[in-house]
Amino acid sequence: MTQWWFLRWQMLVVAVMFIIFLTIPAKSQPQTNLLIQSCSQVNATNLQNFYGNLNTTFGDVRRQLTNNNTYFATANSTRNTDPVYVLAQCRNYMSTRDCLGCIDYASSSIRSCGIANGGRSVLDGCFLRYESNAFYGDTTLPGNQGLCGNQTSSQQSLFETVVDGLLSNLSIATPRINGLYAAATAPVVDSNINTSTAYAIAQCSETVTSDGCRNCLQVAYANIRSCASDVTDGRAVDSGCFMRYSASAFFRNNQTTDLVPFLRDESSSNKGAIIGGVVGGVGGLFILLIIVLVWYRRSRRTAPGGGLYGATELQGPKDYSYSDLRKATKDFREENKLGEGGFGDVYKGTVKDGNIVAVKKLAIGSSTTKENFESEVRVISNVHHRNLIRLLGCCSKGPELLLVLEYMANGSLEKYLYGEKRGTLNWKQRYDIIFGTARGLAYLHEQYHVTIIHRDIKPSNILLDNEFQPKIADFGLARLLPEDQTHISTAFAGTLGYTAPEYVMNRQLTEKVDTYSFGIVVLEIVSGKRCTDIPDESAGEQYLLEHAWNLYETRMHLKLVDETLDPTKYKEEDIKKVIEIALMCTQSPVSVRPTMSEVVMLLSDRSRVQNPPSRQNVNMSDIRIDVNNSMSTTKSVSNADATITELTGR
Ligand SMILES: *[C@@H]1O[C@H](CO)[C@@H](O)[C@H](O)[C@H]1NC(C)=O
Ligand SMILES: *[C@@H]1O[C@H](CO)[C@@H](O)[C@H](O)[C@H]1NC(C)=O
Ligand SMILES: *[C@@H]1O[C@H](CO)[C@@H](O)[C@H](O)[C@H]1NC(C)=O
Ligand SMILES: *[C@@H]1O[C@H](CO)[C@@H](O)[C@H](O)[C@H]1NC(C)=O
Ligand SMILES: *[C@@H]1O[C@H](CO)[C@@H](O)[C@H](O)[C@H]1NC(C)=O
Ligand SMILES: *[C@@H]1O[C@H](CO)[C@@H](O)[C@H](O)[C@H]1NC(C)=O
Ligand SMILES: *[C@@H]1O[C@H](CO)[C@@H](O)[C@H](O)[C@H]1NC(C)=O
Ligand SMILES: *[C@@H]1O[C@H](CO)[C@@H](O)[C@H](O)[C@H]1NC(C)=O
Repeated sequence: MTQWWFLRWQMLVVAVMFIIFLTIPAKSQPQTNLLIQSCSQVNATNLQNFYGNLNTTFGDVRRQLTNNNTYFATANSTRNTDPVYVLAQCRNYMSTRDCLGCIDYASSSIRSCGIANGGRSVLDGCFLRYESNAFYGDTTLPGNQGLCGNQTSSQQSLFETVVDGLLSNLSIATPRINGLYAAATAPVVDSNINTSTAYAIAQCSETVTSDGCRNCLQVAYANIRSCASDVTDGRAVDSGCFMRYSASAFFRNNQTTDLVPFLRDESSSNKGAIIGGVVGGVGGLFILLIIVLVWYRRSRRTAPGGGLYGATELQGPKDYSYSDLRKATKDFREENKLGEGGFGDVYKGTVKDGNIVAVKKLAIGSSTTKENFESEVRVISNVHHRNLIRLLGCCSKGPELLLVLEYMANGSLEKYLYGEKRGTLNWKQRYDIIFGTARGLAYLHEQYHVTIIHRDIKPSNILLDNEFQPKIADFGLARLLPEDQTHISTAFAGTLGYTAPEYVMNRQLTEKVDTYSFGIVVLEIVSGKRCTDIPDESAGEQYLLEHAWNLYETRMHLKLVDETLDPTKYKEEDIKKVIEIALMCTQSPVSVRPTMSEVVMLLSDRSRVQNPPSRQNVNMSDIRIDVNNSMSTTKSVSNADATITELTGR
């Protein structure tokens, strides 16, 4: 009897486990991962009307989505004081059941917007948005952004190349596909072996035009490809489109779209297709972005007032009022001062929402600058990279131009090399700083849609976050310099000692100017000595760079290493390699200097440096001129060429 009961229990347990097994999806992916949620700043007026409309429209879109193969729905309820327009969309790989599950999750989450008259939730599996006016035609709007995950891949550069091609193909093909959605995969092949697969989707609102979809996806592509150089998954969100890639499957292999028929070059058919066809080339992307930008401005100019973007505008660069920033920094009080740079003083401030920010008072205030200010700010504020300081907003209406930037509690690298924290960084931290700085520069030079040359890389411009990861500050600011300014402080266009000889002497500006400064900074990080320290020649001392070359030539470069570093905590080979890379960066002419992406490759590759640096490529008298010039405080600099060369489209 007891045995029989036992058997029944066992069978029951097996049955329950079987049922559980059946209900767990084969690939459980967090499709309700909430990526972005925002609420309107404006409250509804009549809550009874508002909630009535909200419930009606949410119910309506949900009903529409319960039909098989429907992934997109809109509804409106506009009878009374508080109209509600809603849009709901699932990614097309979702089953009807998962789609409804995602939308249900989104609508309960968006209820936290309370009585706000607009809200939006973007999730991996779906998108839900409501507003008090129709917004169904929105495509790309300020606040668009890339969201990078945090898992790094073991074969990053290969994976990056594949993802880049896949995303580019998707952004060309999707606007031409009925339903404006596509999913595709690509194998990552390393020496003829399929090592992994890249998965990606692109999707537009079904209510936008093919051209609108194309514009939106081009911006999304620019935003998301920066992730691919870093991590195995990324997303781009915008008002009218969505893009995602991952190294792990988030849709089934039989749910892909064949892109080939949609990638054919239809150059003869229409103008849109011509643009789409060349977009694979970076030049085309640049042209397209300009067109988007012009189109933007035009639509902005014709817009009546501020309501154009919908109440739940994604967070772009924020317009701060001068009085708020003055209050935040306690009237720019001395004790709030974080430092002074070539472009002006920086203050710590606490803004209204309680966040701590850094406020930079720009010391350049001519009227031409002010005119360019906002468009330049837009360019800089769209730069998203984990090794670059975020520009959060600006203020152009007060007596000075102000920039609001991410605040870094640990301050600058200079403090850790030469200031109060001297000698506290271990080798791993130093290496991470070198690597991160190289990545940030490679992004500015080669991955952002316009080339940004920093021109002033030095330890005080490399800030450190809580985990001692570097973030480069002050990039793009050289662009704000008025072109007619011929006599400016050298601090503006580069700090001598860190500045490449061809730029000091001939004002020849290329990305390699930053490569040079990077090499010098690496030598400083390794040695703990300043490049500008004046040597006591009677005691046989030399300038840092000269010293490094001399030691390298006699294979003694380990003597350069900072004595505060614990020799048991680093491998001699690693440091030697880093020193060699640094020396390569300081070579001239510019053609023998590596690009920053080559530097990133060299640093991440375990093998040895193939083309070791050669002293033949260095003119020591250049170095001396360079350093000695830095002792004088001002220098005549013609900035006009620089500003033009720097904005080369890609
Ligand atoms: C909207 O209502 C919330 C309370 O639900 C309130 O905290 C907020 O200040 C209101 N916003 C405006 C702009 O009136
Ligand atoms: C709308 O729906 C919410 C939640 O489902 C409910 O609490 C509320 O009573 C509804 N309001 C109206 C006016 O139907
Ligand atoms: C959806 O499709 C499945 C199979 O294709 C079918 O069994 C089901 O009845 C359909 N549901 C609706 C609501 O049409
Ligand atoms: C609002 O809903 C009505 C009826 O469903 C529809 O005819 C109309 O086109 C909708 N308006 C917008 C702007 O979508
Ligand atoms: C990234 O890492 C943090 C913890 O380090 C974790 O909380 C977060 O969920 C991760 N994000 C993603 C997208 O994996
Ligand atoms: C992109 O499309 C081109 C042209 O069809 C194809 O050769 C290439 O392999 C595709 N790239 C990826 C990564 O799918
Ligand atoms: C890699 O996978 C692709 C498609 O999944 C297939 O066409 C190709 O033959 C595979 N290559 C190798 C070397 O296995
Ligand atoms: C795709 O594959 C899944 C299982 O992996 C299967 O259930 C489904 O029927 C397939 N769909 C099509 C259209 O072949």
